[in-house]
Formats: sequence, C-alpha cells, structure tokens
Amino acid sequence: MASYTLSLVSRRSPAGSFIADPVFLAAQQLLFTAFPDHSNALVAALHSRNPQLWNYSNGALVGAAITSHPTPLEGELHFFAVAPEAQKQGVGRAFYEALEARAFTNQARVTAVSYVPGFFERIGFVNKGPTHTHVGCLDHYLIKVK
Ligand SMILES: CC(C)(COP(=O)(O)OP(=O)(O)OC[C@H]1O[C@@H](n2cnc3c(N)ncnc32)[C@H](O)[C@@H]1OP(=O)(O)O)[C@@H](O)C(=O)NCCC(=O)NCCS
Repeated sequence: MASYTLSLVSRRSPAGSFIADPVFLAAQQLLFTAFPDHSNALVAALHSRNPQLWNYSNGALVGAAITSHPTPLEGELHFFAVAPEAQKQGVGRAFYEALEARAFTNQARVTAVSYVPGFFERIGFVNKGPTHTHVGCLDHYLIKVK
C-alpha cells in the first residue's frame, strides 16, 4: 500500500483564534460530503468540547475523522469516512489503526455509533445492537476494547 500520513488538523491558531486552514476545510468537506444527511450532527461534533479532527493522506486527502475523549479512559469516534475513490482497498482499516494508535493512545475502550456496523465489526468492534433510526439509517452502538 502507498505511504499514508495521519495528521491532527486544527481550525485554531496557536493563539486560539479561528483560522481558514485549507487542510482543516478539506477534511471537514470530506465529512460533509460523506454524511450529507448528518450536517447538524457534524456541526455539533465540530463545536463540541475538545473535538479532534484528523486527516489521512497519501498526498491527496483520502480520509477524515472526528474523535474525542469523553473520559480519560474512553475514546469516541464521532465521524469516520474514506473518500469514495479510495474505498474498498483497505484504506479504512489502515486509517482506523493509525487513528487508534494516535488518538486513543491511553484509552482502553473506544465507542462509536454508526449505521455501517459491518465495517466496524470487521475492524474489531463488538456490535452492542441498534440504538435508534436517524434520517432513515439504523444506528448501532459499537465498542472496541483494546
Ligand atoms: C465505511 C468506510 C469507512 C469503509 O472504508 P473502506 O476503506 O472501504 O474499508 P476497507 O477497505 O478498509 O475495509 C475493511 C474491512 O471492512 C469491510 N467493509 C468495508 N465497508 C463495509 C461495509 N459498508 N459493510 C460491511 N463491511 C464493510 C471490508 O470488506 C473489509 O473487510 P476485510 O478486511 O475482512 O476484507 C467507507 O465506505 C466510508 O467512508 N463510507 C462512507 C462514510 C461512512 O459510512 N462511514 C462510517 C460510518 S461513521
């Protein structure tokens, strides 16, 4: 597989003010395109307390994700997407593995809510079952114990 880089992207300058960082905007755009019916939840995730926005790139941006740490021992994956042209080639698995090593270094448990439970089960999450239906998609609650 080609060489990929995982980067934490921020929309704030070191001084704390908002910046129009093109890398941040591209990662955000990838998520809005992947989840067209979830824009309200995406905006909420991007403005929640201490969210982390990540991009995964091989020169071109191929993936983006939002993570947080609800507790010191627990990680949460809010949104996770691979660009359509990069899907079904193992990029999602490699992106998640890189993310787990960097974003959830000290977290023993990672949770996710997703309407694509099959992908998460393939990468080691346990499906705890459906939670609710959101814009026609049945979400499942998933847990991975590292
Ligand atoms: C779901 C998504 C992240 C998968 O990315 P990907 O790069 O295609 O996944 P990979 O090629 O790394 O696949 C890893 C494994 O998951 C499986 N898989 C991938 N997508 C799947 C799906 N929709 N349902 C079931 N299994 C899936 C693959 O078959 C593969 O299994 P294997 O390793 O046993 O062969 C990607 O399709 C995507 O971004 N979709 C749109 C956004 C989305 O739905 N995100 C997830 C909800 S938060």
